[in-house]
Amino acid sequence: MRVAVIGGGVSGNAIVRAVEARGCSATRLSRSTGFDVLRDDARAALAGADVIIEATGRFTTNRKKATAFFTGSTRALSLASRDLGARHVLLSIVNCTRPEVQGYGYFAGKTAQEQAALAASPDLTIVRSTQWHEFVHQNLERMKVGSISLVPGMTIAPVALEAVASVLADVTVADRTDAVIEIAGPETTTLWEMTKAATHGSITPVPVRIPGRLGRAFRDGALLPGAHAEVVGPRFRDWLAAQSS
Ligand SMILES: NC(=O)c1ccc[n+]([C@@H]2O[C@H](COP(=O)([O-])OP(=O)(O)OC[C@H]3O[C@@H](n4cnc5c(N)ncnc54)[C@H](OP(=O)(O)O)[C@@H]3O)[C@@H](O)[C@H]2O)c1
Repeated sequence: MRVAVIGGGVSGNAIVRAVEARGCSATRLSRSTGFDVLRDDARAALAGADVIIEATGRFTTNRKKATAFFTGSTRALSLASRDLGARHVLLSIVNCTRPEVQGYGYFAGKTAQEQAALAASPDLTIVRSTQWHEFVHQNLERMKVGSISLVPGMTIAPVALEAVASVLADVTVADRTDAVIEIAGPETTTLWEMTKAATHGSITPVPVRIPGRLGRAFRDGALLPGAHAEVVGPRFRDWLAAQSS
């Protein structure tokens, strides 16, 4: 089975490793490999793929920018998957479509992305995961202001990216036909507790209380999975210990 993984960085590489471990031939494409999903001919670049896994991302809290990026990426890959007769597997986020979190521009963009995929991809599986253990570091990098970094109040059920990649790979090879699959980690914690447990070089993390409805939703568990989510370990502290051993 030939799998094209669109998106670079930490998630793209983890997904490639997981699908290759199941005997697939995998190609990762992103701007760093010479493929821009917003500009280039996706059908030509992905010719021969049986499955297209979409794991592109651009961090912004601006609703317009997030929506333009995520829907642009998905429209291109939906059309390519339709023309090539390939399955489209979209990586998304548990509860990003809930009304109370739409004030967060990134989630509004992810919601528009899911809608665009549902409208245009004939053979689609949306795999939603909770925030990854790796999100602690991603957040610190994204929210850096000088030597400090802001950590928003969020109650989450974090999951290891490697475990998410493994479920994605199972979905790919087992040809599961579920329209939506949700994956979560085994414990409920906060982004601040996770951040405190990890080390961050010279960056000083600072907790931030997001005001209003969105902040309440984040703190009160709007991002926690429902009972139908597939729960996969390890717990954050065990994962962290394994990273440093
Ligand atoms: N982080 C989490 O905790 C989490 C949890 C659940 C779901 N997700 C979802 O998983 C996906 C990947 O997340 P991530 O955190 O790995 O994102 P990320 O760190 O922002 O990486 C996404 C990758 O997309 C590639 N990319 C950006 N613009 C592109 C373009 N125009 N054309 C082709 N590739 C492009 C980038 O590689 P290049 O720079 O080489 O182009 C980048 O490495 C996102 O949709 C995100 O919402 C993330």
